[in-house]
Amino acid sequence: MLKGVLLAVFITSGYLFASQGDSKLQESIKRGEAVYTANCQACHQAEGTGIPGAFPPLAKSDFLKDQKKVIGVVVHGLSGEIKVNGETYNMQMPAQSHLTDQQVADVLNYVQNNWGNKATAAVTPAQVAAIRKK
Ligand code: HEC
Repeated sequence: MLKGVLLAVFITSGYLFASQGDSKLQESIKRGEAVYTANCQACHQAEGTGIPGAFPPLAKSDFLKDQKKVIGVVVHGLSGEIKVNGETYNMQMPAQSHLTDQQVADVLNYVQNNWGNKATAAVTPAQVAAIRKK
């Protein structure tokens, strides 16, 4: 009997914890949409499609698999040849160094959970801070 109660408490608190984490992520994604519109959309386009031959897509981008690399692109910029979904790009993305750690986390949570993308884990401001230092 006691075991059953403990198990129920355990499961309920696990559920509450998980759903709290989820609503935090939803808030981050919502803030990230505004960050995206103001800072990324001009190049990567409203639907994340990019522009063939110039700006790579973020929608269903196979580049997004490596979370650390993606954070690095936003805080340090990117230049040189890259391949996204089999297409070669060789342009330059300026570092978005005016964005705070929170804004970078929010915009990446938006990008990685939108247009058919599904992140395996949320980006946190602490992760962004650690990569910014490198
Ligand atoms: C001035 C145009 C410009 C802006 C603004 C810009 N990017 Fe980029 N982005 C690029 C270019 C160009 C590349 C490819 C660089 C290369 O060829 O090496 C790129 C590459 C990327 C990549 C890796 C490749 C891919 O398609 O998955 C990610 C992720 C990315 N950008 C995210 C962002 C985010 C998020 C923002 C806003 C915070 C942003 N970019 C703002 C031009 C831009």
